[in-house]
Amino acid sequence: MNHFDYRDGALFCEDVSLEEIANTVGTPVYVYSSATLERHYRVFKEAFAPADPLVAYAVKANGNIAVIATLAKLGAGADTVSAGEIQRALAAGVPPEKIIFSGVGKTEAELAYAISVGVHQINIESIAELEMLERVTELHGQRAAIAIRINPDVGAGGHDKISTGKTDAKFGVSVADALALHARASKMKLIDAKGFAVHIGSQIKDLAPLESAFRVMRTLTETARAQGLSVDRLDLGGGLGVPYFNEPEPPSPADYAAMVRRVFDGLDVALSFEPGRLIAANAGVLVSRVIRIQDRPARRILVVDAAMNDLIRPAMYEAFHEIKPLVEARGDAREKMDVVGPICETGDTFTRGRDLPPLGPEDLVAFMTAGAYGAVMSSMYNARPLIPEVLVRGDRFDVVRRRWKLSEQLGLEKIPAW
Ligand code: LLP
Repeated sequence: MNHFDYRDGALFCEDVSLEEIANTVGTPVYVYSSATLERHYRVFKEAFAPADPLVAYAVKANGNIAVIATLAKLGAGADTVSAGEIQRALAAGVPPEKIIFSGVGKTEAELAYAISVGVHQINIESIAELEMLERVTELHGQRAAIAIRINPDVGAGGHDKISTGKTDAKFGVSVADALALHARASKMKLIDAKGFAVHIGSQIKDLAPLESAFRVMRTLTETARAQGLSVDRLDLGGGLGVPYFNEPEPPSPADYAAMVRRVFDGLDVALSFEPGRLIAANAGVLVSRVIRIQDRPARRILVVDAAMNDLIRPAMYEAFHEIKPLVEARGDAREKMDVVGPICETGDTFTRGRDLPPLGPEDLVAFMTAGAYGAVMSSMYNARPLIPEVLVRGDRFDVVRRRWKLSEQLGLEKIPAW
């Protein structure tokens, strides 16, 4: 469920018309709904009640500090994958004891930073990383709580590029190695070996692969305990999919929580989760203005002012984003259209041959379900400045990231003296 609806024929975010935002802030612009973010967090969290797992919002999905702060106020933690994301989470008010530090390529400097702020947990992806962390803890005389990320050899996810759980992926260690690593970490002076972590992919629309991976986690926990190792925590990652269009609804958080309860029944372990897309995707749209129509003999091409540098998902993962006119279509007239951005490559195509209501220059459209992996993945390709982000709350809105100026881009560069 989200809070983007037509009211008297105009598309609103909560109680604010998107047209008003477009006209005030300019286009393209990302618009997020606080109510939707809050609702998604609460639905997920409450699905596990009375258990009180750590729900660490995956900052990579949408790292705007206003978005993180909205969730932090409800008690959310943060799953982070770089020193930058840790800084964002802290700046947004997430306490360090609710921050998980994940990722396959953490540097020594990033590990040192993470332990200096006292994060809740560092997820370890390899022997080499564990050894590096041991060195860092000893160098700085600071402790680190860790979980070993396993690779359960279960693949899942909406696209090959976002499937992480198969053996040939770069993530995690085998179950056998996880046991050995945990045993080794348990003997390290400044390392607190807390348990295991898993994340098999993103935009998963079927509980079966998640359940298989979680069963591996349960067996691993029992095996480790039988060997005298303590396992206090299991981090079950993110990955639950969302509907991008009129498709069968993915499993609900309630179904997911019921499955989790079934798998871990009686295990007596603290669980944590790292949902990103589930919380942010349907809480955001990208609003764009039509620049012009280009008619080709066989097709009609709508050129809009947003481009692949603003929303790369269609170009990168063949992702489908619903496109809604800000003024609701009257009647049933539909035309097949390609929707493209101004960037100079054919990849800058949002959709081909989509049935859309008649649209023309100056009309406004919204790319739906763009709140996750939208703004965070944007670039300044073709010297297009990063676009603004707006957060709505009820009948108010605020620009939570302003548009970059070209001078700011140029200010980072120089022409060498030679
Ligand atoms: N935890 C870990 C360790 C992850 O790698 C990810 C996502 C998450 C949690 C959050 O997963 P979610 O709940 O959002 O599915 N850019 C891609 C998605 C990449 C996901 C990467 N990892 C896209 O636009 O579809």
